[in-house]
Amino acid sequence: MKIKLSIIGAGAVGTSCAKWAMVKNLAQEVVLIDIVPDLAKGKALDLAQSSPLFGFSGKIWGTEDFSGIENSQIVIITAGKPRTPGMSREDLLHINKEIVKSCAEVIKRFASESIVIVVSNPLDAMVYVAYKVTGFPKNRVIGMAGTLDSARYRYFIAEALGVSPKDVCALVMGVHGDFMLPLTRLANVAGIPISELLSQEEIENIVRRTKYGGGEIVKYLKTGSAFITPGLATIEMVESILKDEKRVLTCSVYLEGEYGIQGVFLGVPVILGKNGIEKILEIKLTSEELEVLRKGAKHCEELIKMTHL
Ligand code: LAC
Repeated sequence: MKIKLSIIGAGAVGTSCAKWAMVKNLAQEVVLIDIVPDLAKGKALDLAQSSPLFGFSGKIWGTEDFSGIENSQIVIITAGKPRTPGMSREDLLHINKEIVKSCAEVIKRFASESIVIVVSNPLDAMVYVAYKVTGFPKNRVIGMAGTLDSARYRYFIAEALGVSPKDVCALVMGVHGDFMLPLTRLANVAGIPISELLSQEEIENIVRRTKYGGGEIVKYLKTGSAFITPGLATIEMVESILKDEKRVLTCSVYLEGEYGIQGVFLGVPVILGKNGIEKILEIKLTSEELEVLRKGAKHCEELIKMTHL
């Protein structure tokens, strides 16, 4: 079967998704779409010209015509404004809600069987918008944040210890925002709990840096937010779905009672395979961890109310 991947939004994150999908040779066709005239065409042509250099044999093209997503197995939504210094992800709610809503409408129309991955911020609220507007089942509407936040967390642990990031296993649950929950209790290096290797103070610093990992980059870049790791973190999810790898990744998913939370999207560990979310893993949390998770859920509920959907 021919694999077609569409990416709506040809900004930095969308282009990064396309690049990593090509590097990993994940699709025979990659389509980049943006409403800005010629932007997606230009980015796609630049990417296409790199194919001989790293051996991508598929086709990549750009367009402003949203019907280009037709017959895609996966559609990624990266469209929307990024943060600039001083802005929270929530400041983007109203403007990005309208953008994500119109993306979801075209996905429903042209790619009604696809799996949708949302990357636009404020993430957990934007996945909800896509879920409501497409009306797709919850296994096919997924938010990307946990793979990014967990990668940041793993990197900071590896950096503090001077070890290979490959051996660091750690997850970040909850909201993609201030109520993010980097789990310290379960973080380990090749099976060794980080509490055996790092002081409490060092761990707290890593947790803080992880939570504001995105903001730190916004501060440096000034005109936008991170894009290299967000792109690869998204493609890690795409790869698990397309290859039916059944990876255990933290994704923002619609909760219906899991962790005692109802009716919001929140980052939890899931099994990701050919059907999208194949299983939500409900792990035992301490009362302090659950409290952070529930505070995050409450925050998401408030944002959802503000979307009037
Ligand atoms: C970040 C943006 C993508 O965390 O939310 O960098």
